Amino acid sequence: MEKTTMEVGADGVAVIAFTNPPLNLLSSDLILGSFKEKYEQALRRDDVKAIVITGSNGKFSGGFDVNTFVGRRKGEEPKPGYISIDVLTDIFEAAKKPSVAAIDGVAFGGALEIAMICHARISTSTAQLGLPELQFGLIPGFGGTQRLPRLVGLSKALEMMLMSKPLKADEAHVLGLVDAIAPQEELVMTARQWALEILEQRRPWIPSIYRNDRLEPLGKAREILKFARAQAQKQAPNLQHLLLCIDAIEKGVVSGSRAGLLKEAEDFQKVLHSHTCKCLVNVFIAQCATSKVPRITDIGLVPRRVNKIAVLGGGLMGSGIATVLILNKYYVILKEVNEKFLEAGINRIKANLQSHVQKGKMPEENFETALTLLKGVLDYENFRDVDLVIEAVIENVPLKQQVFADLETYCPPHCILASNTSTIDINLIGETTKSHDRIVGAHFFSPAHVMPLLEVVRTQKTSPQVIVDLLELGRRFIDCAISKFGMPMGPFRTIDLIGFGVFAAVGVQFLKSFPERCYKSALMQVLLEDKRAGEATRKGFYLYDIRRKASPDPEMTKYIEKSRSIAGVTPDPQLMKLADKDIVEMLFFPVVNESCRILDEGIALKASDLDIASVMGRGFPRYRGGIMFWADNLGSKYICSKMETWAKKYGDFYKPCAYLAERAAKGASLRAPVEQANSRL
Ligand code: NAI
Repeated sequence: MEKTTMEVGADGVAVIAFTNPPLNLLSSDLILGSFKEKYEQALRRDDVKAIVITGSNGKFSGGFDVNTFVGRRKGEEPKPGYISIDVLTDIFEAAKKPSVAAIDGVAFGGALEIAMICHARISTSTAQLGLPELQFGLIPGFGGTQRLPRLVGLSKALEMMLMSKPLKADEAHVLGLVDAIAPQEELVMTARQWALEILEQRRPWIPSIYRNDRLEPLGKAREILKFARAQAQKQAPNLQHLLLCIDAIEKGVVSGSRAGLLKEAEDFQKVLHSHTCKCLVNVFIAQCATSKVPRITDIGLVPRRVNKIAVLGGGLMGSGIATVLILNKYYVILKEVNEKFLEAGINRIKANLQSHVQKGKMPEENFETALTLLKGVLDYENFRDVDLVIEAVIENVPLKQQVFADLETYCPPHCILASNTSTIDINLIGETTKSHDRIVGAHFFSPAHVMPLLEVVRTQKTSPQVIVDLLELGRRFIDCAISKFGMPMGPFRTIDLIGFGVFAAVGVQFLKSFPERCYKSALMQVLLEDKRAGEATRKGFYLYDIRRKASPDPEMTKYIEKSRSIAGVTPDPQLMKLADKDIVEMLFFPVVNESCRILDEGIALKASDLDIASVMGRGFPRYRGGIMFWADNLGSKYICSKMETWAKKYGDFYKPCAYLAERAAKGASLRAPVEQANSRL
């Protein structure tokens, strides 16, 4: 139940607390209802001299519930607009009684904006503070674009907002966003003292909106803003709200904070009703829902502790998986078939860690310590006390079956036996063992240490405990045109990166299992015959220089013509005139079709999981909401009719599946109802 409580102490300080467990999420009803009422009461009461604002149960507040922005809070009608907070801000800033925020846990979004209106902020050493609104297609709408730069300087404020990057308490203290750090048990007491000291003029009493001491001089500020605008346009050319946020900040810097606040309010209304906001909120809510599995995560099982993990195979995937585990401080055993491959695997892990250091994601001095967590082996002797094995050997059924039979012999009975296979049925891999309840798929995406997605594939016999354990493991380390359309790279560049060897093996499995769902092209085979195997051989669909920069190869025409003559097809002149939109649709509608099939078959639990898989595992643009959200916006009817036309011209690969055809006939959504989520802003 969301509410606001107030207690007035003998010292004359009123402590007002947001209470809406677990994250004390805010809503317009809470802020303009009980919070405003308590605050005004505190201003009216003669026995109250000063005010402390805090949150109950060791959390300040995770900010506004994102469901409010898309009108999805239970029992609530969508709100026509945001809340008219300005009234409250004016009351705060004109008040004759000072207020201090006491922050434990998190102060995100609207909650940090409230804290910044206060005259001071005291936090615990573990608190985190941030304005992640841009991540949801919004901009701060409660004065954040004006107050944050005035507290931490323009450069830092831009970084925090544009990258949705929170500050830890110690940095926030150094920068001035937090005025003092106090132990948790003394937090509210320290905030009370500060409030009284401000009242007694022993500490400054200047609302942050009037401060200019931390803002860069105008000339420098203009340079910083120009650079930020150029970066935003380069990195996210399709995202308008980033530029609107910069515009609002600039207005405040150039014309003063009042003008900036007005611009912020105006732009906030624009972004609040944008399609981008709906898409990004969908991804966030879908992501929250991935860890909820009916009859598995709701039956009270507690994840077991996993300390030591073995990875089988030090190739592309095994080395990436070992890297992500090491980065998350797990002790890792890496097994390979011989010294040469083992050394190559360890070198790949070292290179992955080095690139982390170079990108500033890991301090250089931690590199050697990280490596001490890794042990390379050639046999199973060290597997006797492992808690989890992740198999990433070559995609070959008899080999994987033999490996799992060996694992059953050497690993302790509690050990989870997981396979990273892309295409092989997990039941088949474990067929010759008696360990069906602990065999599971743990499918990472390439490159594993970069892509924040772990797909947990269960069989009928996998025990709920094993699934809960793996979900917890994933949660711990995954916190955490096509390029015009917003994909990080197109399909040919992706295949070059993964390598033709893996792709051909995967293709063979797919063709064997689902011939009607595959499009068989001779092109890759033709390229492989000429020793073009992708980026690793510096020749694939593209040519690669020594720094792995891709350039088109005029020779490709020759291979395409050969492939066409093998298949006996002549080029369709219409295909030569395709617009970008048509290319995107021809590439992604079959993906939508396949997504519908696996939903129908129950392979994927819910449509929102497919949104997350596409965003996290394949780089589908987050601001388009995920593959199924995107598809639903186009409409099942439209997609189905396009697919039917292409099926007539280009074959059954494009034929709409039963699920898609049925939904299209009814004009119905392709997605199951999406869950409510514990969401923050
Ligand atoms: P890879 O060929 O790069 O590496 C496989 C490694 O396994 C080789 O170094 C090989 O020496 C080693 N190996 C073979 N038998 C072994 C044994 N008995 N014990 C220990 N090591 C052994 O292959 P890659 O790409 O790493 O793929 C591995 C698995 O991951 C496959 O099942 C694949 O389907 C899956 N996968 C691949 C993805 C990709 O993008 N490459 C993505 C997701 C999953």
